Amino acid sequence: MRLQELLGIKLPIVQAPMAGSQGSELAIAVSNAGGLGSLPCALLGVDAMRAELAAIRARTDQPYNVNFFCHTPPTVDAKREAVWRELLSPYFREYGIDASESADGALRAPFSAAAADVLEDFRPKVVSFHFGLPSADLVRRVKSWGSKVLSSATTVEEALWLERRGVDAIIAQGAEAGGHRGMFLSADLTTQAGTFALLPQVVKAVGVPVIAAGGIADATGVAAALSLGAAGVQLGTAYLLCPEAKTSAVHRAALKSRPASHTALTNLFSGRPARGIVNRLMTELGPINDAAPAFPLAANALAPLRKKAESAGAGDFSPMWAGQNVSGCQEISAAALTRELIS
Ligand SMILES: Cc1cc2nc3c(=O)[nH]c(=O)nc-3n(C[C@H](O)[C@H](O)[C@H](O)COP(=O)(O)O)c2cc1C
Repeated sequence: MRLQELLGIKLPIVQAPMAGSQGSELAIAVSNAGGLGSLPCALLGVDAMRAELAAIRARTDQPYNVNFFCHTPPTVDAKREAVWRELLSPYFREYGIDASESADGALRAPFSAAAADVLEDFRPKVVSFHFGLPSADLVRRVKSWGSKVLSSATTVEEALWLERRGVDAIIAQGAEAGGHRGMFLSADLTTQAGTFALLPQVVKAVGVPVIAAGGIADATGVAAALSLGAAGVQLGTAYLLCPEAKTSAVHRAALKSRPASHTALTNLFSGRPARGIVNRLMTELGPINDAAPAFPLAANALAPLRKKAESAGAGDFSPMWAGQNVSGCQEISAAALTRELIS
């Protein structure tokens, strides 16, 4: 079945959910333009989520996607936390921050029964997950009210695992992609292939529609992915400069600068590998450092540093997620960008 029929959309374009960089406004704009707008919920509590969903319902009658992380929350490892804070202590001193100061960094709660309760009131056409799937019970619940379920695969094995568990479509996330690697069967970064290596292999392996993600930035990239068998595409980075995105000032400035073409996978900001623009912390401590606490705890100790540096206009301690191809970032409306991608 064509992706458009499956998801009820006019264009085979999915705006990637981007926690921390957008809310309902971007999703509404893309859905109203005929693509699939997405609301990322990884950083939202249930009240904020309900408010965002209400905003979407008020401003579009088109299908939209609601996205969740589905990791297992870790237990705090006091020893590792101490090693991590020691590693960060020179920066705390530089910024005059009390090292014991702890702001709750990124909350990043996984999908839960409480989130499902909120979702049930809205019954979105599409629900997507990152890092695998929640429990079979929760997946059944989401499907029971008619939502189509999507999840990211970064290897053929993950795609087969997702298909066996009944997902309606698979997002093949190539290594070029900005943000967190959706990887969930292996933590080995050498398993991560680029989009045009991963996509045809996933298309061959599974029967469900495959959505290509990672490094797609313009209409020719979209056409190339479709010609390799993708039923649709998911783009994140290209939407980051749209006025409807909530991309921070330091992130916007970095995206517009030359160094934006240099990205790397790093675990420093959250504890899990994610692709972002190389900045001071990544250069000095990483980009991958074993001392970083387990996902999502690494964000906590960094939070006060990040806040202070950002208020001084520096993105030295901020995750500035971006894919390897930032050439599609334009300061134009999300509707215009969506239309351009299919022209
Ligand atoms: C700023 C940013 C934030 C992201 N946050 C999420 C998220 O919350 N949930 C998710 O499933 N994927 C997230 N991703 C990954 C995207 O779903 C997608 O895989 C990626 O954007 C595709 O590659 P591209 O950025 O090169 O277009 C994020 C990507 C970026 C750039």
